[in-house]
Amino acid sequence: MTRIAFVGAGSVEFTRDLLGDILTFPELSDATISLHDIDPERLEAAESMARWTAGELGAPATIEAHLDRRAALDGCDHVINMIQVGGHAATLIDFEVPARHGVRQTIGDTLGIGGIFRALRTIPVMQGIAADMAEVCPQAWFLNYTNPMAMLCWATYAGTPITRIVGLCHSVQNTTRQLAELVGAPYEEVTYLGAGVNHQAWILQLERDGEDLYPRLDEAIARDPGLQRRVRVEMYRRFGRFPTESSEHSAEYLPYFMHSDEMIERFRKSGKRAEARFDTYITRLANEVSLRNGAQPVTIVCAEAANLLATASTLGNAEFRHYIAERAAAERKAEPKHCKK
Ligand SMILES: NC(=O)c1ccc[n+]([C@@H]2O[C@H](COP(=O)([O-])OP(=O)(O)OC[C@H]3O[C@@H](n4cnc5c(N)ncnc54)[C@H](O)[C@@H]3O)[C@@H](O)[C@H]2O)c1
Repeated sequence: MTRIAFVGAGSVEFTRDLLGDILTFPELSDATISLHDIDPERLEAAESMARWTAGELGAPATIEAHLDRRAALDGCDHVINMIQVGGHAATLIDFEVPARHGVRQTIGDTLGIGGIFRALRTIPVMQGIAADMAEVCPQAWFLNYTNPMAMLCWATYAGTPITRIVGLCHSVQNTTRQLAELVGAPYEEVTYLGAGVNHQAWILQLERDGEDLYPRLDEAIARDPGLQRRVRVEMYRRFGRFPTESSEHSAEYLPYFMHSDEMIERFRKSGKRAEARFDTYITRLANEVSLRNGAQPVTIVCAEAANLLATASTLGNAEFRHYIAERAAAERKAEPKHCKK
């Protein structure tokens, strides 16, 4: 029977979505899911969620929860990693220190200085997990979701006995869904070919019943000035194939987009949503905290700066609260005519 470890199982989004995916495969529905996190409260929450998900899906899976990593890894066939070393506090530093020196970041988790900070604190932990795997489950595949993707997979591959490591990202599926919607084709009928490395993939073919859907995509873009202001659409126009990474990620993957104030102005207001936004990651954290507190997700387009401020006031961590409030105030200042008082 397949045994799968989730390392960093307290990662709400990943654990929920992955369990939903894994347990719907008949071959894996009776798997043992071995959850591990260093935070007992988060681990407990993950365990309850896993049991609930298995019950809802009618999957006869066995759910285990371990604070001890080696016990969680023991005998596993697959180890899925989704840790975030240092949590919110470290992520704040990834933004605040570079910002003090005028360095612009949107997500700061994949490359650039934020990615390097993250790599430096995460590589030793990844190598520790791999060292444990080499002893208690040497044949297992190490499937990594944690960023910075390329740096972590490389450091694990080169620096530990574990070479069966693969980095995964859900951006391919998300992007092809969005493209299908844009060209008005039912997703189930769309076929695609994507390829790429280092967290940067491209949709080489997009078809429905043998019809190339790229011309339809061109028409959709030509009709929509908002789309034309998106970073990834600009990349598509320059490179000829659509990239799978979001505009927020892409804006910092390519230094061109955030180099000047003029470029930021040009790409940040897209009509429907802001692109090339700074500090997207902080937005995500705010959402996550508010969801965990049972509130609605926060959308931090400028028009909702007031909501953001309201959410900020409910956050437990004073430093984080202050930071979010400052960001919201900056948004209001940048685009006052869209912002509610
Ligand atoms: N590949 C992708 O498609 C993709 C997309 C989004 C986010 N990410 C990455 O996924 C990671 C998780 O993001 P999140 O927002 O779900 O994080 P999160 O903070 O919600 O969850 C991470 C969990 O890791 C746990 N953790 C921290 N250090 C640990 C350790 N040493 N051992 C075991 N558990 C540990 C924390 O307690 C927490 O429960 C981040 O690194 C992020 O950059 C990847």
